[in-house]
Amino acid sequence: MSHNTFGHLFRVTTWGESHGPAIGCVVDGCPPGVPLEAIDIQRYLEKRRTGQSRFTTQRQEPDAVEILSGVFTNEAGQQVTTGTPISLVIKNVDQRAKDYSDIKDKFRPGHADYTYWKKYKIRDFRGGGRSSARETAMRVAAGAIARKVLDGITIRGALVQIGNRAVDRSLWDWDSVDSNQLFCPDPATAVHWAEYLDEVRKAGSSIGAVIEVVAEGVPAGLGAPIYAKLDQDLASAIMSINAVKGVEIGAGMGAAELTGEENADEIRIGSDGEARFMTNHAGGILGGISSGQPIVCRFTVKPTSSILVPRKTIDQEGHEIDLITKGRHDPCVGIRAVPIGEAMMALVLADHLLRHRAQCGG
Ligand SMILES: Cc1cc2nc3c(=O)[nH]c(=O)nc-3n(C[C@H](O)[C@H](O)[C@H](O)COP(=O)(O)O)c2cc1C
Repeated sequence: MSHNTFGHLFRVTTWGESHGPAIGCVVDGCPPGVPLEAIDIQRYLEKRRTGQSRFTTQRQEPDAVEILSGVFTNEAGQQVTTGTPISLVIKNVDQRAKDYSDIKDKFRPGHADYTYWKKYKIRDFRGGGRSSARETAMRVAAGAIARKVLDGITIRGALVQIGNRAVDRSLWDWDSVDSNQLFCPDPATAVHWAEYLDEVRKAGSSIGAVIEVVAEGVPAGLGAPIYAKLDQDLASAIMSINAVKGVEIGAGMGAAELTGEENADEIRIGSDGEARFMTNHAGGILGGISSGQPIVCRFTVKPTSSILVPRKTIDQEGHEIDLITKGRHDPCVGIRAVPIGEAMMALVLADHLLRHRAQCGG
């Protein structure tokens, strides 16, 4: 299976399956001299980890990351990157392959089972194998290294909608995102969401969500006007996350409802002599190149396909059957998609920062 590598100069290759012995990645192209300890990566993995609340799957994976290569202790006694490939590994410890034995020849509706079978004629049915979102732990790990390259850039994500229940943006408080289990920027809404998600979970169902990721402090100039547009690469990276069905930048789909006057981000000169945009409908990207404004990306995650409500499907022999997907599943995968979205934003920006320096210097 190819296409497991992502990025041009900051390149990430991930490997491993949901129920294999381990998952891992190789980050190649990271500049030398970047201070890097496992703990720097672990803090982001903690955010994505399972089994931490009743709203995420009860699979208990400690997700302890180990750095196998690409770092060395410098003369000052600090562990830093050497510029060689950084290899990371996380052991899988809570695999229960038997949870999946009764679906080994059945195609779960909404999953990748049918398309994998059609394409490869062989399928690791244990937890979805390579199509499982277990792989995204390595994106979060690689994203933690990318953040270190993005000195001075802040990347934050939040859950902004569950089902048809959106946050009240007038109450947005970034500080509250990490203080509730739903990564909700509005604590009052978080309480209502929790009650709603309990109902969804008890009904054996699931629900979709919208996540917003914002990067601040991005210098103007990252990206390119034609085939490496920053918004194009960002959309591709975010769309590669499991269960993502829609991506928008800035005003996004809402731009269809705006007039030219409303949508134009007017420009003035600030007291420092630099350009000041009066609005940010462009989401920080104009002509594929960052403008210096915050980069704003939203994406929609579909409801978890594994539900306890019977659904119609077929098996490998072509029989029509009804299927209930047992096992441990998130009622709303959008929650854990927040740190994954942040990581993909970091990876795209790190790659574009290095590409910008390679062409334009600075
Ligand atoms: C963090 C995260 C956890 C996920 N966990 C599950 C899960 O427990 N059950 C499930 O049916 N899908 C889960 N998914 C979604 C599937 O991985 C995904 O729907 C499947 O691979 C098919 O790919 P597609 O939805 O992108 O077409 C998860 C997605 C994410 C982002």
